[in-house]
This record gives sequence, C-alpha cells and structure tokens, in this order.
Amino acid sequence: MKNIYKEYRGENGIVTALEDVSLEIEQGELVAITGISGSGKSTLLNIIGGLDRPTRGELYYNRHNVKDYPNLAQYRSENIGFVVQDCKLLPLLTVEENICLPLRLNGQMVSKKELDGVIKKMDLEEQRRKLGKQLTFAEQQRTAIARAIICKPKVLLADEPTGNLDPENRDKIIGLLRQMNGEGQTIVIATDKEYIVKQCDRRIDVVNGRVVKDRTEFLIQNSAFGS
Ligand SMILES: Nc1ncnc2c1ncn2[C@@H]1O[C@H](COP(=O)(O)OP(=O)(O)OP(=O)(O)O)[C@@H](O)[C@H]1O
Ligand SMILES: [Mg+2]
Repeated sequence: MKNIYKEYRGENGIVTALEDVSLEIEQGELVAITGISGSGKSTLLNIIGGLDRPTRGELYYNRHNVKDYPNLAQYRSENIGFVVQDCKLLPLLTVEENICLPLRLNGQMVSKKELDGVIKKMDLEEQRRKLGKQLTFAEQQRTAIARAIICKPKVLLADEPTGNLDPENRDKIIGLLRQMNGEGQTIVIATDKEYIVKQCDRRIDVVNGRVVKDRTEFLIQNSAFGS
C-alpha cells in the first residue's frame, strides 16, 4: 500500500477512515492489524482485499498495481480469501454445501479429496452434514475459514475471526490459522484482541486511520495518539 487514503462522505461531512497508509506485507507473514473500534482496521483489510477502493493512493500485489486488473472482482478471486466476523453462512445449506458454494457459483468442480482435506483441517468431520443454522458460532467460523481456504487464496484476510468466542474455541481457531501460516499461508488479521495480536509475528497499530506503529518502529509522534 502506498499513501492510501480512504474517505467516506457521511451526513456530517467527510470521515477520513485511512490517512496516508503505506505498508508492505511479505508472502508467508502472519500479521495483526490492531487498534480500538473505529480506528480503521476493517477499512484497511477491505482495501487490501479489494472489497473497497481507496480514495487516493496505490495498492500493489506482486508489484502489479491493482488498478491494472480488469476489475476488483478478478483481483479478489485470483488472490484473496476472506473470513469476516458475521460469517454469512447460508442457514439451509449444509456445512459441505456452504464450503463449496463460492467455487460452484464460479462453475468450478470441487473434488471430494479437497473437500475432505479442508473439513479435516478445520475439525468439522462431525458437522459436515449439519445445516448452517444448526452450528455453534465456533463451528460457523471454522466453516467460514474452510470456505475461504478451499479456494486456495494466496492471501487470507480475517476480520475479527474469533468474535466473542470462549477461550477454548478462540484458541482453536487461532491455532488453526497459525498452523496454516506454518504451511506457508499468508494471513492478515484485523482484531482488537490482544491475545490474537500476541500470536501473530507482526503487529500493525492503527490510530485514527493512521499506522502509528509497525513491527517495533514508532512511525509518528506519541502526541498524535488519541488526537
Ligand atoms: N461505509 C462507511 N460510511 C461511512 N463511514 C464509514 C464507513 N465504513 C467505515 N466508516 C468509518 O470509518 C472509520 C473506520 O471504520 P472501520 O470499520 O474501519 O473501523 P474498525 O477499526 O474496523 O472498527 P471495529 O473494531 O468497530 O470493527 C469509522 O469512523 C467508521 O465510522
Ligand atoms: Mg472492524
């Protein structure tokens, strides 16, 4: 990201959700984007993932300007997997059907071997024939991760992937994400939960839409905090 700004036009004028954000994420990293509510974490993640366009600034993927893709949908489908907090499973489809849905909508076949693989990886073997509406929140989140990774995204983006889960279930999800990262998956997590941040290899702190700290480096003066 190079000098990215995101502004929203609201009822009370313009809201600057991101201000002059520049950062680089390497393949294979496990990164936490953190900050209080409203700091701009989701906006940052959505721009990295091509769900939203920056107002100004450039986003590069493998040195290619994302603007040069025919459209954002193609950039997303070639590179990005998303897990969002409200994971939006279809209540009347089974776990298996939910996992396969994006690929099927894309006209792609899903092999049984591949499906079995992600179901095992996400520990959903006992749930695979249950309907979306019959799952616990933790099971829903694991299904959402399975749905994202079956597309083999180069980058996996997760927005508050553990929601308000109990410690056992949240540790399970973080453990699964870490395991995937150990196998080479690039993962970026937006979260305000310190226990998740601690499990990542790199933290990017966002305050009022600005990256104030990345790795161990303070990027702007402390006086700007909370202003
Ligand atoms: N579609 C939108 N229209 C107007 N303002 C928006 C929009 N989306 C986000 N914002 C504003 O941009 C700022 C950053 O929001 P964002 O959702 O990125 O924060 P966040 O750090 O993810 O917060 P949370 O922890 O609550 O999820 C906030 O002030 C928010 O109100
Ligand atoms: Mg958010």
